[in-house]
Amino acid sequence: MFVYVGTLLHATASNALEVLLGKALGVNNGKIIFIEDEKELPALQQQYDIGHDQVHRLGEREFLIPGFVDTHVHASQYANAGTGLDLPLLEWLPRYTFPLEATFSDVTFATAAYRKAVTRLLKNGTTSACYFATIHTEGSLRLCDVIEEVGQRAFVGKVCMDQNAPDYYIESSAQSLADTETFVQNVLSRKNALVQPVVTPRFAVSTTFNLMTRLAEVADKHNILVQSHLSETRGECKLIGDMYPDAEHYTDVYKRAGLLSGKTVMAHCNYLSDGEVAIIKTTNTGVAHCPNSNISVQSGLCDVRRLLDNGIKVGLGTDVSGGYNPSMLDAIRYAVQTSNILSVNKDDSYTKLDYREAFRLATLGGSQVLGIEDRVGNFVIGKEFDALRVNPCVSNSPFDIFDKDTTEDTFQKFIYLGDDRNVTEVFVAGKRVLPK
Ligand code: GUN
Ligand code: FE
Repeated sequence: MFVYVGTLLHATASNALEVLLGKALGVNNGKIIFIEDEKELPALQQQYDIGHDQVHRLGEREFLIPGFVDTHVHASQYANAGTGLDLPLLEWLPRYTFPLEATFSDVTFATAAYRKAVTRLLKNGTTSACYFATIHTEGSLRLCDVIEEVGQRAFVGKVCMDQNAPDYYIESSAQSLADTETFVQNVLSRKNALVQPVVTPRFAVSTTFNLMTRLAEVADKHNILVQSHLSETRGECKLIGDMYPDAEHYTDVYKRAGLLSGKTVMAHCNYLSDGEVAIIKTTNTGVAHCPNSNISVQSGLCDVRRLLDNGIKVGLGTDVSGGYNPSMLDAIRYAVQTSNILSVNKDDSYTKLDYREAFRLATLGGSQVLGIEDRVGNFVIGKEFDALRVNPCVSNSPFDIFDKDTTEDTFQKFIYLGDDRNVTEVFVAGKRVLPK
């Protein structure tokens, strides 16, 4: 049991940035048990028998925010982050990405590489992540081990690809299906509620229709998430059109395979027609908006406003290493800048995404996409305490605060200019996982 006293900022359904000043937030058994005005603290300490050493007072400029939720990230590709960004997706995959992922057949290398990736995300405040691993079952399980070791909350997928891939990095349909079942059962048997398996057909280009339908059955049987990529680049959309001349559109391919539901996360969704948007909505599929990746590998600009206006669940993803930055602060910035760019060619009625709304997507929105909004995403009594302690005034802070700055200014500076140096503590399910 412990209490934090000070400033809290978070997003709610009705308020993208709620600023709560002078609060006492109590955590017991990993869950938030009260959020009261600071003046109630003595009474709360009595009621819950809380000693002075269990009460932590935030400094004047410090605040707590919910941990970030990265809804789409390739843990295996972290080794390439910041390199190989000169080619569009369908050339980038065989040139840089498949060769790297293939090396994850070496379990020792894989474990070390995954440890670096997961640790880097956690340092940057990502308390929940939805990961792609590689096609290798052993390596994918080592990713789960590493996540358990560092104490992050995560969904992990063994990647499935049985066509349009190089000889050195491809599976048979039967092997892919059997390995997925093995992987899923292993992860579920750990009974660690923080780490869950996710069924992961790479995308319709590299996963056969037959395998996709069988994978949908696996996800149904175990009642677990599905993740893939949808409508990321024009080239890919054209290819899907050629591969599936009878399908209505790209989204229709996944729908017919039975892959779209309220437990599905589709990354990108840059080129959806109105008909596709309607299907994403009616199937309650979630979208992982990956703005850094969209620009870095020249895929397109996703109009998130259109998705939100249609009532679609949207979270943010770093999509490392199509996106070069593993920090969700960067994803927030790119989401805002993408919206700003799109707005240039829209009329005045277009509502841009501001930093508050992008922050909501990075926290509460992501939790909705991953189906964990009843557990995390913001500060609500009964939810688990996944949180970041932010100190804008650390000695090596990358930005400066002035006397004139309000709490909201300070938060906004952190969003635009802050980094992991400002994230001084990270909590997952009430446990402080950083610093160790
Ligand atoms: N589409 C299929 N595979 C990938 C991948 O690894 N990264 C991105 N950004 N898009 C993909
Ligand atoms: Fe991706």
